[in-house]
Amino acid sequence: MVISGKELAAELKGKMAEQVAGFEEKYGRVPHLVVILVGEDPGSVSYVTGKAKASAEVGIKNTTIRRPDTISEEELLGIIDDLNNDDGVDGILVQLPLPKHMDSDKVIAAIRYDKDVDGFHPANTAALWLKQPCVKPCTPKGIIELLKKANVEISGKNAVVIGRSNIVGLPVAKLLLDENATVTVAHSRTKNLGEVTSKADILIVAIGRPMFVKGDMVKEGAVVIDVGVNRNPETGKLCGDVDFAACVDKASVITPVPGGVGPMTICCLMQNTIECFLNKMNKK
Ligand code: GUN
Repeated sequence: MVISGKELAAELKGKMAEQVAGFEEKYGRVPHLVVILVGEDPGSVSYVTGKAKASAEVGIKNTTIRRPDTISEEELLGIIDDLNNDDGVDGILVQLPLPKHMDSDKVIAAIRYDKDVDGFHPANTAALWLKQPCVKPCTPKGIIELLKKANVEISGKNAVVIGRSNIVGLPVAKLLLDENATVTVAHSRTKNLGEVTSKADILIVAIGRPMFVKGDMVKEGAVVIDVGVNRNPETGKLCGDVDFAACVDKASVITPVPGGVGPMTICCLMQNTIECFLNKMNKK
């Protein structure tokens, strides 16, 4: 079974649009998401455009602030500070990666944790690992929603995550653990990777290497979630970290690229923006 993140995201965005339609009357305004894009990395430009499009579909107000990659870190921190103090802004997202002269950790930590719709702020990360209320990172949250939609039983299963990034690998490992999976995090130094992945009932691949996972690395009947977004070096077409053609017949459930995890990430960003908005409104 190939699970379409695109379809599930469309369904969830439809439900959110209905919810947001009532906000103007109830709260006097709709949620406002501000996305900051520094530079013109083509991948980042495409993500930011996708986020603006999804916001429009759901009825969320979206402002995209674009700055050249020559701006100073101080200037960026100044923009964040203004947005932190603006009561009309509910969510702040700084598109990553940032130019090399900036300290991403410092920039992320400068965002108010209760406007951190990415769930990357140290306070949200700590709360996630302590199983306390928090904004959850979008891609991991989207992956769990996809698994649930596909009726994949997670509890008691062997889950292997390839990749240990703060954005995907580590938080998805924690969310799988919270769903009672037995979790292994594999990475570039893992020995006998194929042996490790062959034991996975659920295999999450987030390494950023085109078509890295081949059929012989996948257990018969496994659930394979491909987080990769790469260009095929030969064809130039978008492809994942999983060699889809080689794995599709072995997997019981697999996600395509494009149209799998990507749309769910953006969908969860919309959910997080609504969540931050409602937390604020219900506090007043
Ligand atoms: N760059 C790649 N993925 C992400 C993401 O989820 N959030 C942000 N802000 N930047 C990214």
